[in-house]
This record gives sequence, C-alpha cells and structure tokens, in this order.
Amino acid sequence: MNARDLLRSVRMAGSASGRRQTRAAWRRRRADARDLPRRGPERARVPGPAQGAEPAPGGGTVRFARSELRVWVAMGGAVFCGWDGAAPLPSYALAGGGPEVDARAVLEPDKDGWRVVSERVTVLVSRHGAVEFRTPGGLLLRRELPPRWWDAAGEGAAPRWVQGSQTPADARVFGLGGRAAGPRLPEGTYRLWNTDPGGSFGPDDDPLYITMPVQFVVADAGCHLVFHDTSWDGQVTLRDGVEGAGSGHDRPGGSEVRMEGGPLRYWVVTGTPARVLGGWTALTGRPALPPRWALGHHHSRWGFGTQDEVRRVAAAYREHGLPLSALHLDIDHYDGHRVFTADPERFPDLPALAGELAGQGVRLVSIVDPAVKAEPGLETYDSGRAADAFVRDARGREVRGVVWPGETVFPDFTDPAARAWWGGLYRERLAKGFAGFWHDMNEPVSFAAFGDPTLPRSARHGLEGRGGDHREAHNVYGLTMAQAGYEGLRRLRPQQRPFLFSRSGWAGMQRYGGTWSGDVATGWEGLRVSLALVLGLGLCGVPYSGPDVGGFTGMPEPELYLRWFQLGSYLPLFRTHSAKDGGRREPWQFGPEVLGHARAALAERTRLLPYLETLSHIARGTGAPYVRPLWWNSPADRALRECGDAFLLGDALLVAPVLERGAVTRTVRLPRGQWYDTATGEAHRGPGQVLLDAPLGRVPVLARAGAVLPVAGADGGVELEVWAPRQGRTGGGVVFGGDPEGWGAPRMERFTTRWADGEIVLERDDGEPVGYAFRVRGKAS
Ligand code: GLC
Repeated sequence: MNARDLLRSVRMAGSASGRRQTRAAWRRRRADARDLPRRGPERARVPGPAQGAEPAPGGGTVRFARSELRVWVAMGGAVFCGWDGAAPLPSYALAGGGPEVDARAVLEPDKDGWRVVSERVTVLVSRHGAVEFRTPGGLLLRRELPPRWWDAAGEGAAPRWVQGSQTPADARVFGLGGRAAGPRLPEGTYRLWNTDPGGSFGPDDDPLYITMPVQFVVADAGCHLVFHDTSWDGQVTLRDGVEGAGSGHDRPGGSEVRMEGGPLRYWVVTGTPARVLGGWTALTGRPALPPRWALGHHHSRWGFGTQDEVRRVAAAYREHGLPLSALHLDIDHYDGHRVFTADPERFPDLPALAGELAGQGVRLVSIVDPAVKAEPGLETYDSGRAADAFVRDARGREVRGVVWPGETVFPDFTDPAARAWWGGLYRERLAKGFAGFWHDMNEPVSFAAFGDPTLPRSARHGLEGRGGDHREAHNVYGLTMAQAGYEGLRRLRPQQRPFLFSRSGWAGMQRYGGTWSGDVATGWEGLRVSLALVLGLGLCGVPYSGPDVGGFTGMPEPELYLRWFQLGSYLPLFRTHSAKDGGRREPWQFGPEVLGHARAALAERTRLLPYLETLSHIARGTGAPYVRPLWWNSPADRALRECGDAFLLGDALLVAPVLERGAVTRTVRLPRGQWYDTATGEAHRGPGQVLLDAPLGRVPVLARAGAVLPVAGADGGVELEVWAPRQGRTGGGVVFGGDPEGWGAPRMERFTTRWADGEIVLERDDGEPVGYAFRVRGKAS
C-alpha cells in the first residue's frame, strides 16, 4: 500500500461505510495475494522464421519456428489473424457464430512470403511474421509486426504478449471505446480496463467506463478498423507518424498493444468509413433499434425524493411548454438502495405513477445496478444464491464488496444460467410500469478505501463454461449484464423492443443498447468531452449515446447549461441528469432567457424526430452512427481529422455546437461540398472555414446542398425538407418509418431532387407520387 492509500484508509475508518470499504479493500488484497496464479520465470518468444504454409478456405495457415498464424477473409471482407492457434471463437464481441469464410480468397506464395488477395484488401505475410494490409491498389494501410510473447511457467499463467504495428505517417487514430482525450486520440498510452473514475471525470481522466481494443484509423491511403479480440487487462500505446522525418523519409505512426493474457488474434476491416462500420457491425452485431420515444427528451436526477416530486416535475415540464419523453428514477427510489425494490413510503405506487405519466406520453426508466445486497431474506439475494449466480472466490466463497446498499454480492454475468436468472428479475420492473432500463455501476464498481474499486482480480467467473478469473471477465462484465437484461426483456415482453443503455461495456455492446457519458464533470471542458465520447463510441460501433446534459456534478452557470442543452438536443440520447448534490437540471432553473432558448432547442429536437428516427434505422441497418466526424465523407481531408468541435448528424446536417464561454460566433470547418446555414439560408462552399453567428439562442447548423430529410410539420405529420441542390446537380435522401416500439419491418422511401427547367423537383425513386408535403430551402447558386 502506498502512503496515499494508507492515508485514505485511515480517513475512511471514521464512518461505517468507510470501515466497510477499508475492510473490502483489505479483503480484495488478501484474496489476490492468496489466489492469483503466481507467474513463474518468463521466457520471451517471437514467431521465428517461416517454415511453410497450408491453404485453407478463405486463406490458410503459415507455420513459423515457434508459432503459427492463421489468416482468413470473411464474407464482407473482414480479415482474421490468429496466432498460436487462436480461432475467432469463443468471443464476447462477435455476434452469433461469427462470420462465414469467403472461400474465394486463397493463400498463395508471394515474393517475400505469402499473400491472400480478396476484393477489398490484400494481406501479405512476411517470412518473419509481419502482416501487411494493403488496398486493392497496393497502398499500405497497416503493418502488424511480428508479435512477442512471454510464456510463463505455472498453472493458469497465460502468456502476456505485445503486438506492435505501423501505419502511414499521416494516419490518425480514433476509438478505443469512450475516451475523454478524443475524438482524435493523441499520442500516449491508453489502458484497457473499464473504470469508474470516481466522483466525476474531465479531459485528463483515462481510462473511463468503456474501453475497447478497437482502433479506427484514418489515412490518405484509406480507412481501417483493427480489433484485438481479447478482454484481458492491457494497454494501447499510440504514436503519431512524422512526414518527411529525417532525410525526407516518413516515420510511420503506429500502435503497440500489450496484453496481460488472452489469445493473440485480431480483425481488420478496411474501406470507406461507412464500409468499415458496416463490416464491423456485421461482425459484432448491428445496433439495437431504440423505441421511437427514446429519441425524445429524457429528464433524470439523482435525488428525486418522492413519487409526488416526479409527478410535479412532469407537470412543470407541461406547464412550461417543454416536451418530455421519459423520466428516469435513480437509486433513491429503491428501498435502501436495493436493486429490484421500491421504497414503500416515498414511492408507494409506481404502477399508478407510470400509468399516469404514460397518459401524458412520458415513459419511466429505471436505473439497474448489478450489485445485490448480501442480505438473507431479500428475495433477489435468496433467488440468486439458489441459482448459484454470484461471483465466488477461488475457495468457493461469495465475493463480497461494497456498493450503495452496503455489503453486496455480484452476479456472474459470464455464466449463462446467471444471465437467465437475472433477466427474469426485470419482471418486477415491468410490473411496476418501467419502460426502459439504465444499467449503472457495471464496470463493475465495488467501493474501496484504496486500490482498484472493483472485484478482486482473482475472483472466479464462469466465462461460458470455460472458467477463468476477473482479469479476463472484468471488461465484459457490463456487456454481459446488458446481454442478460436484453435477453430477459425479450422473453418477458417479446412484442416490444427493449430499451436499455449501460455505463460500462465492450466491443459488441451495441447489440443490446446504448450508453451515456457517465459522471462528466460540470464545466466547459466537460461539455467538450461529452462530444468526444459520443463521436469515439460511434466509431466503435455504439451509435446511441449522449452526456449528462449540464454535467453531473455542481451547478452549471446558465450559459454553460444552455450550450450543453443545445449540444444534447442534437445527440441520440438527450438526457438532463445530475448528482444528488449537483443542483437541478430542469430548464426553468436557469432563468427566463435560458428557459426560452431551451424551449426553442426542444422544439427543434421535436421537429427533427422523424430524421432521428431515420438515422436510428440507418444505424441499425448499416452501423453508420447518427453522429459522425466531419471527415466521414472526406477522410482524405487531413484538417478535418483534427477537428473535434463539430459533427455531422447523418448525411444531411452539420452541427457546430458552442463549446466556449461567451462565444456568440464560431468558426466552422466545412467538408467539401456546398452547405447552407439553416438559420439564414446562406450558402457556403467547402472545404474551408467559415465564421458563423452563434447567438445564445442557437448553435450553427448547416445543411448539405441536395439533402432531403424528414421533419415533423406543424400538425405533427411528417414533411420533407429539401435543401436546394447546386444548379445542375442532384441530391436526395431516405426516410425510414414504421413500428415505433415493436418488431415490424420498417418502411423505407427514397427520394431524389434535381433541377428541371429552372425549378427544383422532388421525386420518389419508386416512381410513386411523393406523398409528403415538402418545402425547398436554401438560396441556390
Ligand atoms: C453513478 C452514475 C450516476 C448516478 C449515480 C447514482 O455515479 O453514473 O449517473 O446518478 O451513480 O446512482
């Protein structure tokens, strides 16, 4: 224990909860000292020289002196590489049984080794185990260097490994899960260990709740995503390249992935950003489609004292003319913070409250924490014990930790039987009238007076019957909890799409739902970080997310609150939320001027709902996030790669939120093409930079020339907004609609707009009449 830890534990010993946390921290330390496998002496190993190769469907195996590499191409173009016999399965990231092999690809000898040529990518394996990924035109996208392992003697000692790589000098990296430092990740080391930063976080906090070994790389040569498929503790070090370094040669950029264990295997998906996300979500699962109501405004608070207070908040939203889609109940509605209960005095009749709110179009969402109070007689605890659902230590004893309700146990979501038991618990929530679920504290958190606030690394997990410990299970805890919730809800309420979002998760979590920022610190930096997280997660395949609007902690100044509200109103999950002692986040708490502007932001959100719904279907169908970086359609525009202060909302809009105090104008970097300022109709030409007005009442939003997007008309019906294409050019857009909550197949309509005899016309691609009222906007040039 270091001096800081010691001081903390002495300070904490003053309260009951502090004493509990001190005991828990000591318990964890003892368990790990006793039960973690001891690493014997280690021996470094590299693959050594190649000795031969055997083709197999989709690729083949190259044998080296001290390892072997399996390479194959999947249908859709993703490439799998597995060392030491690693296969794609089992994997927590992959959807279903994993992808099929593209039998057209074959391994063949090449001048310096072997190659696999496929439609999208050429893979070259050198005689020393370097693997290159090149475009069909031969440009280098990525070179994975020969890996290095450290084999250890001793039972259960998995080899550690490091995998270095090179990328072109101009390449920029995004992703790695939700990173405050993003969206473009600067050089540095990023840990892969899902972590509650505790209290709140700002731009320098890393890691956060969701880490993923997923790098989205953008370079002139093309884009690709690389995913090192192991959930173990590890880290990624990124290094930028330098063009024209030393005697005019480029110094490549690259990464070094270092893992404490787990298979050395990875996937590479190449192509345009849209194709990469398409390939990635084909591999790991398409994003869950939120119900339509989840695209409206949500309000939340840690500290709603009673159900009458909740009622009053809903009524005040109505009285102020502010549309509201959902209210979230935090842990204070539980009985003594026990999950799957309700406080009988303060929340005596949740079904009645839910029914009343539903009549006003407001859904109730429930927080769900994984930790169960270790209290015999408590139904959830007893039934979990009966199902043998809780994590145990190496000696077979329940692992105890400390969370909100006091001493707790933790379901082992990596055990299918535990997932089935947990999924059934949502029956109680549904009976209470909850329509959606907010998974929290699932990194998982166990408060500790010192050290890592999570389970002991030696805690045992089922891992789908393979068995293992927390070092491997930690990062997939939130993901498998989401799976348990999602599957439970599908069983309990099969006719409705589940709505859940989860603080922690891992690659593939989009199959079950979305996420949110977690406890972002109130402040202008927190506002900027909010956008970085949404953009980065979208590039990792998780399109539905948003911040705690206003920040989690402390009271934002009115201007900050408003700017956050305006940003939030263009993000998929638009939710105001705050900590118990953070002050309230209702728009009327910040004076009449802010209230008026917040009302305008909500009205615009409401007007854009048909567009957001369309984007939700596009995300579901293709993996393309609603919120996209500015380089999405122009990845070769290097200036845009550095630009994290604005974003594309689908194909049609560019949103430039105000992220600076006092700003009433801002510069906006435009991708190529013509863009209309939606406030003035003025046209601007990209690429380049423009200075736009950003008065307190609105943030700059631009529309792409030729865009056709669905919006809500004054009567609530869908209308089309057509942004004039440039003279002689065409444009278009798609509109998705359909089942708001169920599984019915969506309806898709495609429209084209063009100039005819000096007029702009709009046509449906199937030749039927347009069928919607539409309005042409923008001063055509
Ligand atoms: C965690 C969550 C936060 C929630 C609080 C109480 O800090 O991130 O959103 O309000 O716990 O449940």
